[in-house]
Amino acid sequence: MPYPMDASLVTSCLVARSGIYHLFRALQLKPGETVLAPDYYSGNEVAAIHAAGATIAYYPIKLNLEPDMDALSRLVARLEPRVIYVIHYLGWPQPMAEIQALCRKSGSILVEDCALSLLSEQNGRRLGSTGDYSVFCLYKTLPVPNGGLLVQNNASLPELRDLKLEPGPSVTATGRTLELAFEALRSRANGAGKALFAVKQTIGRMLRSASVRHVPVGDIGWDLANVNIAMSSFSNYIMRSLDYEQIRQRRRDNFKLLQSKLAGKVRMLREDLEEGVCPLFFPILVQDKRATAIELRQRDIGAVEFWNDPQDNPAIGASARHMRAHVLELPIHQDVTPDQIEYIASQVLHLNPEPARC
Ligand SMILES: Cc1ncc(COP(=O)(O)O)c(C=O)c1O
Repeated sequence: MPYPMDASLVTSCLVARSGIYHLFRALQLKPGETVLAPDYYSGNEVAAIHAAGATIAYYPIKLNLEPDMDALSRLVARLEPRVIYVIHYLGWPQPMAEIQALCRKSGSILVEDCALSLLSEQNGRRLGSTGDYSVFCLYKTLPVPNGGLLVQNNASLPELRDLKLEPGPSVTATGRTLELAFEALRSRANGAGKALFAVKQTIGRMLRSASVRHVPVGDIGWDLANVNIAMSSFSNYIMRSLDYEQIRQRRRDNFKLLQSKLAGKVRMLREDLEEGVCPLFFPILVQDKRATAIELRQRDIGAVEFWNDPQDNPAIGASARHMRAHVLELPIHQDVTPDQIEYIASQVLHLNPEPARC
């Protein structure tokens, strides 16, 4: 299997946020030591870092999804952070050479969050392999029920070596597998997804009435009670049978096809797709994200509102706020066929959503 699955020091948790929590616990930050993290974040990674007892300061992310390097440099000089935390958004890489140089200068630990960027490369190098540590979320890109990986690229922290994780309840695998199948079917726009969703709800009801413990996967939230649950062996089993190069290629082809249909007609968040980038979604900027998402879902297109929450952090800058208000993701994953891309494009063009005002 490719990196990060083949890395020599990997901890496999139920979800990536658990790996982040264990990493920051193991780093044993002292009072006053800071983690510098981007102001555009999901909430799960930040909750995990907080729960591990660390103090976070934020650096601004620009509208092209990259850090404001001048602001970041100034913050690094002022705060001398123990950790610089980098998020690679939706498959697009961050300027790692510059960020790594900053880390060397300040003696900071570099952590790469690749939760949204599995299989992506920058100049032939896998994302997550530059930093001291990296985290990955598997179920966002692969058809697995759960799974988060924490990779140690350089050092081996004894606390992580001694970590004992308990096996996850199998109900998680069942529920999430059906959910994924449902997502895939929904974007096929033939109505079958709705039927499958009903099946899943029925199974969910049966399990709840049988008092089977439910562990959420794919949500935004934090529960310390779940941090010691390992990835299910079912995920491992599926991962051994996947064609990773084909997954990346299909995502790239779908992205380019959708781009060719929508170019000049929607406002795209990123128009570039460098060699090796494995896009997670096709992100567009619309004025009314909620209304557009509802309209598209009514047409069986699994549009995702990207990071509505949390908006109550005063450290979030203007660009990150703008993205939270307006970024909508269109599906381009490996199960979406060229015909479905045509369908998605035709529906978006028909709806003609107002682009986000600058
Ligand atoms: C940037 C980022 N980091 C970390 C996570 C945590 O991933 P998981 O859901 O596997 O805990 C997420 C997911 O929400 C994310 O978007």
